[in-house]
Amino acid sequence: MGQIGEIVKNKQVILKNFVRGFPKESDLLISSENSINLKVPEGSNGVLLKNLYLSCDPYMRSLMSEPVDIAGLFPSYVPSSPIGGYGVSKVVDSEHPKFKKGDLVWGTTGWEEYSLNTSTDSLFKIDHTDVPLSYYTGILGMPGITAYAGFYKICNPEEGEKVFISAASGAVGQLVGQFAKLMGCYVVGTAGSKEKVDLLKEKFGFDEAFNYKEEADLDKALKRYFPEGIDIYFENVGGKMLDAVLLNMRIRGRIAVCGMISQYNLEKPEGVENLMNINYKRIKMEGFIFLDYLPEYPKFLDTVLPLIREAKITYIEDTVEGLESGPAALVGLFSGLNVGKQVVVVAHE
Ligand SMILES: NC(=O)c1ccc[n+]([C@@H]2O[C@H](COP(=O)([O-])OP(=O)(O)OC[C@H]3O[C@@H](n4cnc5c(N)ncnc54)[C@H](OP(=O)(O)O)[C@@H]3O)[C@@H](O)[C@H]2O)c1
Repeated sequence: MGQIGEIVKNKQVILKNFVRGFPKESDLLISSENSINLKVPEGSNGVLLKNLYLSCDPYMRSLMSEPVDIAGLFPSYVPSSPIGGYGVSKVVDSEHPKFKKGDLVWGTTGWEEYSLNTSTDSLFKIDHTDVPLSYYTGILGMPGITAYAGFYKICNPEEGEKVFISAASGAVGQLVGQFAKLMGCYVVGTAGSKEKVDLLKEKFGFDEAFNYKEEADLDKALKRYFPEGIDIYFENVGGKMLDAVLLNMRIRGRIAVCGMISQYNLEKPEGVENLMNINYKRIKMEGFIFLDYLPEYPKFLDTVLPLIREAKITYIEDTVEGLESGPAALVGLFSGLNVGKQVVVVAHE
């Protein structure tokens, strides 16, 4: 780790220009032009971070677009500047009373080797290091609290209910499925490759799984796995899958709208035809954002850490080494290249 006050080269991942349509690796460039002083300016109340692991998350696509105000979310990246996201970092220097040199933290940071963070509200000190540190980009970080809040707070699950999850092998989906199994639900997931389908059944203990890319008729596929209908749908993809699910929901079913990744790169979102089912079947469909549940993070840790330690839950990561590998890993989310939580290793501790 660099020394306080040392001036070092700072490799960064830069957004060239605002993106339209599917993002490409070439929308981002790696730059070693900038240097950084490893000292926090006095009185700034900030921290200087050495970034260790960076998280690739679908919401980062929205930040690559020209600014549009969607409920105050998604302030866009600035072209020609480094992108940012969630990550795990080590404190090199601190002017903030909550953090000291050597602390490990997770939260928002830059896609660069070192970051100066002067708004530390979204940084969490890591107190438990008996689990892999990279887990704080996934199961113990933003995707973890998303899966927890979405499943337990929005879906209101009960033992024996029938649960369907899309993008089921990813950062969020693999956890939702395992939470549902722990609760005694019947769980089916869908994913985009045989490898992922096998993982769902063999590693995460889903009752059934199928490859949506091989199904000409999604309605028929859902009827095969849910002859009596779906009680809970954990929505990660939107579009045609949502339309087919609506036809297969049971009376008083719940749909937790976590995300709709199939729509993020479209110039014009797809329409959904079967919305009347919400009315006929008294379905509750509710969107949610993890940010609203961050105050529950300590309670979430108390629930999930023991599950990891007792091997009652497992977590699959897809890691690439080096900032240079970051752009391909990030854009790979949108063609399903990641198998499990996509992590970029910037430096080992
Ligand atoms: N509400 C919140 O606070 C919150 C927080 C975190 C994440 N999210 C949302 O949760 C969802 C999952 O995020 P994650 O981090 O767990 O990502 P992830 O599942 O680890 O990675 C994204 C996956 O989405 C699938 N996908 C990509 N394009 C698709 C398409 N056109 N149609 C269907 N599937 C597609 C791919 O898997 P396949 O191979 O299976 O296609 C890909 O691997 C996303 O919608 C994300 O925006 C919401």
